[in-house]
Amino acid sequence: MIPQKTVQEILETAKIEDVVQDFVNLRRRGVNMIGLCPFHHEKTPSFTVSPTKNIFKCFGCGKAGDPAKFIMEHEHLTYPEALRYLARKYRIEIEEIQLTPEAVAQQQEEESLYIVIEHARQFYQEQLFDTDMGRSVGLSYFKERGFREETIKKFGLGFAPNEQDIFTRKATQAGYKLDFLKRLGLTSQYDKDFFRNRVMFTIHNLGGKPVAFAGRILVKDVKAPKYINSPETEIYNKSKTLYGAFFAKNAIRKTDECILVEGYTDVISLHQAGIENVVASSGTSLTEGQIALIKRFTPNIKILYDGDPAGVKAALRGLDMVLERDMNVRVVLLPDGDDPDSYLQKVGASAFQEFIDRESKDFILFKTNLLLAEVKGDPVKKAGLVRDIVESIAKVPDPFKRSFYVKECARVMDLEEQVLVTETNKAVHQILQKRDFDKRKQQGTQVNIEPEDGTGSPSPDIETLPPPDSYRDARPRTTGHEFQERDIVRILMESGGKMYDEKESITIAEFILGNIEEVLDEFDNPLYLRIARECMQLVLDKTILSTQYFIGHNDQTVSELALDLLHSPWEYSPGWEKRELYLHSQKMPEENFTKDSMSALMQFKLRKVIRLGEKNQQQLKEVQSGDDPGQLMLLMKVQMKLNEMRNDLMKQLGMVVLK
Ligand code: CTP
Ligand code: MN
Repeated sequence: MIPQKTVQEILETAKIEDVVQDFVNLRRRGVNMIGLCPFHHEKTPSFTVSPTKNIFKCFGCGKAGDPAKFIMEHEHLTYPEALRYLARKYRIEIEEIQLTPEAVAQQQEEESLYIVIEHARQFYQEQLFDTDMGRSVGLSYFKERGFREETIKKFGLGFAPNEQDIFTRKATQAGYKLDFLKRLGLTSQYDKDFFRNRVMFTIHNLGGKPVAFAGRILVKDVKAPKYINSPETEIYNKSKTLYGAFFAKNAIRKTDECILVEGYTDVISLHQAGIENVVASSGTSLTEGQIALIKRFTPNIKILYDGDPAGVKAALRGLDMVLERDMNVRVVLLPDGDDPDSYLQKVGASAFQEFIDRESKDFILFKTNLLLAEVKGDPVKKAGLVRDIVESIAKVPDPFKRSFYVKECARVMDLEEQVLVTETNKAVHQILQKRDFDKRKQQGTQVNIEPEDGTGSPSPDIETLPPPDSYRDARPRTTGHEFQERDIVRILMESGGKMYDEKESITIAEFILGNIEEVLDEFDNPLYLRIARECMQLVLDKTILSTQYFIGHNDQTVSELALDLLHSPWEYSPGWEKRELYLHSQKMPEENFTKDSMSALMQFKLRKVIRLGEKNQQQLKEVQSGDDPGQLMLLMKVQMKLNEMRNDLMKQLGMVVLK
């Protein structure tokens, strides 16, 4: 374990701009730096880095945090791993301290499994390159399939010789425990080699470490399976692993798309041809864990199917799960008899790329067309098809996308749109009811805060860590009205476009501005005044406010203020992330518009009302001595109104009303 004082040292030394710039191009924008977000696809930069606060935040996808958090997210590391990364970068030495015996044992065991697997990988590789048998049988096989040597090495391909126990014998002689060899499935229970006379494919985890193997048979023997695989272990969870993910992750992020194929060889072939954003499900249908894994990199998934309609139809069933995850699914049907690898070898890389671009179809429309072809002219079957399609459409969480599908599918199926609308709404309703039911069942026990991607629990390490000082006291201490004005402007820019109340369907901006309309011109800070007026104009024009709008404002001072205010430590207070998640799942009417904001609004108004009252009092005095009773009456009425407003506000704020 890393001692606390070293953790502190690492956190104090790591500079956010250095750390980020190893991966992202940044340019200056006022006090901050800005670049294209590495966590989601975007064309205009909304990823900001604040060197003074030593934090990053993306206004597009919301990812935010300190240097360690950045490395965790970007490199998919755990918190301690990220700290080690930073320590290496800044040449900080880590003196490990003692863990509990159980933790040591657990860690050592995993460590051992990695070491043993790595040893096996090396063994299979040596067999492939450095033995006559390996070269003449294994290597020639791979070369025949068009794999270049660098590809073979990169993907950790190898050869398991046709001998009873050569691997097991050598490994135990070299000091590797038989128990580990067995647990990793490398050695059978009778102490024989599990993989024999097969070419070997190494399966890597997301960090690039070997965790398992698949062995492909070389002879066309109908009795033995074509592939045999390592079992699951502490370091290999099949349903959360995608073959090739380590080699694909950067390309997936860059292209903002993940190509999904079935086979190991498909991944390797495409990769070698320069199509690197590709992973394989390894012959099985996608699992929740695999979908979540893809979603960490992109919401866009393109599935390549071998051109066999029966097989495709079966595969389509599993895809509703992907729709539920709000991912965009496209499918490509390859020419009959080809898989991605064979088709690529046939036509070459550029024709292949063209083909999959041209032939890719939206999943729901593809499914509709495919099923429709089957039921031609049979009204009973067609009714069944409608149900099938509607169920898929209903799984799509985005209502705009849903209505698009309803339109398109109605057209394709030659149905009244209203029929599909009604059916879809019914199906959506059923889903919501079920979800509601599940939730209530869950709430009976406890409220679970699940991370959005569903890949596991939020890292406990970072949660329990005290927030760095830079988060805490950076909030400006200002006097006068500045503070309240600033808060109002921040809320307008940050959440002005969100709904304040679903039922009455008004936005937070409408609510706030409606509330301070009378005192709108009372902003002291001219910049804030300008922004408030602009917001008012936008609201009157029925334009929904967005954070992006202010960050991208042509007025440099406005966009800089936006970045600055939105970097406010409020968002980083320890409870913040939790609260956001909580609100998302709970959908309270005042969602995202917390008590804090409400009080900011009232504070602001109170100050303005008090000041208006004072001004009015002044005018009253002047008029009293004059001889305009009408004017006097008016000012007195205003005074009463202002006092009433003041008292109300003070009461709401829990203050004592003095007079
Ligand atoms: N698969 C498996 N066990 C089998 C058959 C297949 O695990 N007995 C998995 C493998 O991950 C394989 C994938 O399903 O990569 C696709 O199978 P298939 O299309 O038969 O193999 P290819 O990958 O195309 O292999 P090759 O090109 O060498 O035939
Ligand atoms: Mn193949």
